[in-house]
Amino acid sequence: MVPISDRILILDFGSQYTQLIARRVREAGVYSEIMPHHAAFATIEAFHPRGIILSGGPASVYDRRAPTVDRRMLDLGVPILGICYGMQLLTSLLGGRVAKAARREFGDAELIIDEREGMFGRIRPEGSNAGILSCRVWMSHGDRIEAMPPGFHAIGHTSNSPVAAMADPRRRIYALQFHPEVAHTPQGRAMLEQFVHGICGCASTWTMGSFRKEAVSSLRERLAGERAICALSGGVDSTVAASLVHEAIGNRLTCIFVDNGLLRKGESDKVIETFRRTMRLRVKRVDASARFLSKLAKIEDPEAKRRVIGREFIRVFEAEAARLSDARWLVQGTLYPDVIESVSVRGPSATIKTHHNVGGLPSRMKFKLIEPLRELFKDEVRLLGAELGIPDELLSRHPFPGPGLAVRILGRVTPDRLAVLREADAIVLEEIKRAGLYRAMWQGFAVLLPVRSVGVMGDERTYDNVIAVRAVSSTDGMTAEWVKLPYDVLAAMSNRIVNEVKGVNRVVYDISTKPPSTIEWE
Ligand code: XMP
Repeated sequence: MVPISDRILILDFGSQYTQLIARRVREAGVYSEIMPHHAAFATIEAFHPRGIILSGGPASVYDRRAPTVDRRMLDLGVPILGICYGMQLLTSLLGGRVAKAARREFGDAELIIDEREGMFGRIRPEGSNAGILSCRVWMSHGDRIEAMPPGFHAIGHTSNSPVAAMADPRRRIYALQFHPEVAHTPQGRAMLEQFVHGICGCASTWTMGSFRKEAVSSLRERLAGERAICALSGGVDSTVAASLVHEAIGNRLTCIFVDNGLLRKGESDKVIETFRRTMRLRVKRVDASARFLSKLAKIEDPEAKRRVIGREFIRVFEAEAARLSDARWLVQGTLYPDVIESVSVRGPSATIKTHHNVGGLPSRMKFKLIEPLRELFKDEVRLLGAELGIPDELLSRHPFPGPGLAVRILGRVTPDRLAVLREADAIVLEEIKRAGLYRAMWQGFAVLLPVRSVGVMGDERTYDNVIAVRAVSSTDGMTAEWVKLPYDVLAAMSNRIVNEVKGVNRVVYDISTKPPSTIEWE
């Protein structure tokens, strides 16, 4: 646990927005952590929160097994903010009444602020509603407050909810029927800032500068005199984790970069060169491409490819690790969302593809794990990376799947097909960068399809490969939109691919969203 005194605890009731609450609080410079609503009271107390936020959730307080909290939490004397289900729970725990609303309220609503002092102290007037302070908020609830608990009064209402926000300023308990954490509540950020700074009195102590200092000193203590190893993939997480540990223990960290032969054009050299030159990491490159390609030779099924690649990776890594017999620690780039997932009251989300990450190393390996990023969100990892001086070209890289180009070649993976895809993919990326669109998208790449189509080049009939271009925008990879690439960018890609890549005579653009499609084709 990071040694920071101003911390906010978020108790999760299963809302899909719980993570967002934690991020907003951290963006306000205050450390926050999520625990399930049924966390033991002793754990909550030991966390020493300066304030507690109760999330929303899908349940109804009058369900027979409605999720609740240990009541003693209410007597801790720290400010509490209930959001949506959190509000209804506070109402029923404190002696008010909740009932089904005649109409479900879902979507935008205008919140009329009845009392500015306190919760809404930082709200700016929106529009020109003379004398009335109001703002846009986002609602999603079926139940509503019929009677407030003793000690509370309404501080905001909407046309549908007479009590859209309520407060008991004496006990410093506040509750909102709407969701301040989502972008559809434009001033929600100001409300959460007011809660953590104005009401809980937290200072802005959570910065990546302070995290770096504390993490480095605690890593030095834990790893005193010891050696560690780390599997570098070239991705953001393992890069930042490695360079943080490197700052703490210098060359007692050895990084291993496994070249599986499934990387993009020039990638292996570029990644190694950047690690060595700009970060002075000690990196051992293992060229295992022949081994991976021979194991993949007869495989077409996507999940079988993932399994083989995952297994070979572990074998190669284990063999290398065995040579460094005095290393006892293994660094992994686990992030906070993975940690949340494992304690989520909603349970781990269904596995659609078995994502093999370098994170998935076997527990039978005789290493002690060190996960220096397990308290951070992805955007915080990028900020920390910049703080550590990692070049932007590494930090702003698009995600690249562990199984690499193997899941972008539909069907069999052969050296010839890899060569075709590498060239086409390089052109797609060059054109995206040339158009200045690289940073605006989540991923952009080429896919080699398992079909051939007829074409004509010069006076010759051709019967060649088809390349699909995929470019998506997304915030977390869970859902995605296809990017409306300008026609001239698509034209340049297509023109260059058919002219420069031997064996391709057709280029198509993938216009599918996720869901129902996925980002990768396999
Ligand atoms: P999908 O295709 O499931 O991808 O929509 C979502 C995100 O995950 C990446 N991805 C993977 N990453 N191992 C990984 O490390 C995998 O097997 C894998 N499959 C997909 C994908 O690139 C996208 O960013």
